[in-house]
Amino acid sequence: MTPVKIGIIGCGNISAAYLRTVQAFPVLECVACADIDIERAKARAQEFSVPKACLPDELYDDPDVEIVVNLTTPQAHASVANDAIAAGKHVFNEKPLTVTRAEGEQILAAADEKSVRIGCAPGTFLGAGLQTCRKLIDDGAIGEPVAATAYMMGHGHESWHPDPEFYYMVGGGPMMDMGPYYLTALLQMLGPIRRVSGSAGILVPERTIGSEKKRGQKITVETPDHITGTIDFVGGAVGTIITSFAVWHAQNFSPITIFGTEGTLAVPDPNSLGGKVRLRRQGEEDWAEVPYTHSHSDGKQKWGIGVADMAYAIRSGRAHRASGAQAMHVLDAMHGFLDAAESGQSYTLQAQYLRPMPLPTGLPEDALDE
Ligand SMILES: NC(=O)c1ccc[n+]([C@@H]2O[C@H](COP(=O)([O-])OP(=O)(O)OC[C@H]3O[C@@H](n4cnc5c(N)ncnc54)[C@H](O)[C@@H]3O)[C@@H](O)[C@H]2O)c1
Repeated sequence: MTPVKIGIIGCGNISAAYLRTVQAFPVLECVACADIDIERAKARAQEFSVPKACLPDELYDDPDVEIVVNLTTPQAHASVANDAIAAGKHVFNEKPLTVTRAEGEQILAAADEKSVRIGCAPGTFLGAGLQTCRKLIDDGAIGEPVAATAYMMGHGHESWHPDPEFYYMVGGGPMMDMGPYYLTALLQMLGPIRRVSGSAGILVPERTIGSEKKRGQKITVETPDHITGTIDFVGGAVGTIITSFAVWHAQNFSPITIFGTEGTLAVPDPNSLGGKVRLRRQGEEDWAEVPYTHSHSDGKQKWGIGVADMAYAIRSGRAHRASGAQAMHVLDAMHGFLDAAESGQSYTLQAQYLRPMPLPTGLPEDALDE
């Protein structure tokens, strides 16, 4: 199969993980790196032997580029996607899809008009851990799923990220930053969401940067740093989610747990491709670790697996799994928690969603189609 040529816009922290993914999947070839900071683009291009480093406009004009992989900070996701769509490119955004619902709807409509695809991170649900969990649930291992819990509780990114300010601006916060992993995983296992409600607050309003270069600088938190939500799934299960950048030492049984009429599934960290899958059926004395049914457990090498799946989809004409519609459903839910926290009213989701086909079992480690 002829590799799909991608161009990366946004050569910051996460871009290295995408360039390692290009090395892991022969279906991808990176032909250009771009950034508004040209030095960052040059550095990444050199590190991964990418032939071209340029400013974004030059990348949009490059006829070789088929997918623009948009790894800018969330506040730039919509404008970069719009420029790429206008240039006739497919787009794969980092999460969240965009900051606002209106921006998300607009880029999906613009892409439709231009007959180009929108994909969006996370792709971690394509990993061995979450695909194995989905198969267990689909095969009835816990009976009928009736409830779920999802916990992402920590103290934020200012201790390690070199430029952590965006995490505390509107469009950041623990729900917009980490919610996509947890909600996307829940969607794979339990299907679409009907309604959400929530409570939220800014619990630690001022942050001090602990990483080098900006060490000691203060950040004023502009968006809730602790959000608790409830979820009604269309299929009838009810969920509880907590995302926090405001607590220390949270001890969670597992990041996500799915409870069914016949047993319980402990789901690994959805911010990874692997992790332990543990199952305990009604009447069993202890938990059992379940071997993976699927390939792709190495998140360090395959972080951008969603782009690789989109590349296969472009070549064969099938639907890609980490879709813009899925990310829009997630964005709608995330805003729903925040809106409900402010209004005191539950929110019924507007964005429609159908879960993608599962990956086939037993794929080679460098492929996503049979
Ligand atoms: N850092 C992580 O561990 C991580 C993990 C998963 C996902 N993400 C997501 O990846 C995205 C980027 O995160 P990051 O940590 O790499 O951020 P970063 O701040 O390290 O890098 C962002 C880069 O985008 C560039 N940029 C900003 N606006 C631009 C524009 N309009 N045009 C071109 N370039 C522009 C910046 O110059 C910078 O080099 C975010 O959406 C984030 O949610 C980050």
